[in-house]
Amino acid sequence: MEQRFTLRPVYGDSFVGRKEMLGELLREASDPGSSIGFCLHGRRRIGKTSILKEFEYELSKKKGIVVAYLSFYDLADLSLKTFLGQLSSIILEAFRRKGVIPLEYTIGVLMDSPREVVDSALSKIKLSAGLSEELRFFLEFKKNPEDHTEAVRRAFDLGEKLARSAGVKFILILDEFPEILKVENGLQIVKMFRTMHENHQNTLIVISGSEKKTLEIVALGAASPFYKQLVPKKVLPFSFEETAEFLKRYGLKLPEESIKKLYELTEGVPFYLQFIGRSVSITRDIDAAVKEFISQEGNLFFSEEFERLSEKEGVIARAMAKGAKTPTGISKGSGEPVTSVSSYLTGLQEKGVVKKVEKATYVLADSLFSLWLKERYS
Ligand SMILES: Nc1ncnc2c1ncn2[C@@H]1O[C@H](COP(=O)(O)OP(=O)(O)OP(=O)(O)O)[C@@H](O)[C@H]1O
Ligand SMILES: [Mg+2]
Repeated sequence: MEQRFTLRPVYGDSFVGRKEMLGELLREASDPGSSIGFCLHGRRRIGKTSILKEFEYELSKKKGIVVAYLSFYDLADLSLKTFLGQLSSIILEAFRRKGVIPLEYTIGVLMDSPREVVDSALSKIKLSAGLSEELRFFLEFKKNPEDHTEAVRRAFDLGEKLARSAGVKFILILDEFPEILKVENGLQIVKMFRTMHENHQNTLIVISGSEKKTLEIVALGAASPFYKQLVPKKVLPFSFEETAEFLKRYGLKLPEESIKKLYELTEGVPFYLQFIGRSVSITRDIDAAVKEFISQEGNLFFSEEFERLSEKEGVIARAMAKGAKTPTGISKGSGEPVTSVSSYLTGLQEKGVVKKVEKATYVLADSLFSLWLKERYS
């Protein structure tokens, strides 16, 4: 069936490619003896959430596996209480859906119900005393006063306890995990999580993030709590084959040279393909579609990207969008001395905005961002 273009994360029939990465994730998750987790990283809009959603979708069909997904972007706020409430809720709901906790009402409903309703629901099911107590603790969590230290410990152990008692494997997916650093005592909480996870036998965690700096702090850097605990996986743009497969799946039949042109322009970034593909399917005009993208969505998306740069980095990027590639050229184009250009280039490379193509030659990593900059500041 032909898929409809969308700007939202995709899974199931709308999900294209990523066979290798998904295969590896699914293999580890389905191996009862493995507790190797992963850390997905990659630039904004490259398809991280979609991979996690597809992973969740595939796992949800399997027996003996319980999977829960939480995105830090979906939290109403970044208070500890909201985070713990949501984390415990998605974990309990995942086990409920698999029949491990045979409650009639959803966890979300029960968490917001008065005590009598919770009592009555709990009286109808059989769980071990220990699990019953955990369940009650979290169902009443929102009504409880504010000391959450104990709750952090219990929430991070909740999935493991349930998984052990049911003899299943538990997969916890935490999308945009570094946002946890914005929660009060965030880094402390991550450290606690890591220590507890070391003793987990049935739990596997998969996290994602788009900002290199914050990912270094929680998972990838040598001083981070999850260092060497999670296998890093970089999410790259689609290959040419995946791009062609994408266009086919979404019903966009184009001659080979147009596919090549789209691939060159979008560099295989799924978000660009979704947006530009949609316009091309209507107008059949690639150049017009790119223009439209840059002036509409681009203005939102790229302005945001541009604001992440310091003022000087912005000046450098603009000079590069106009065609300067070497430190000397960039210095001429920007009016900054060559010596400082080099250090700005290093910073821009760290942010993933600039890439080195050969010795002393640099370009903006994203050609559409480059077009947008050129148009906006010409
Ligand atoms: N495998 C895929 N097949 C088809 N479309 C995809 C795929 N992966 C991503 N997309 C499309 O690309 C866009 C971005 O996807 P997604 O939200 O998964 O990326 P992300 O890296 O999580 O982005 P963000 O940085 O905003 O969190 C969406 O429009 C989505 O539909
Ligand atoms: Mg995402």
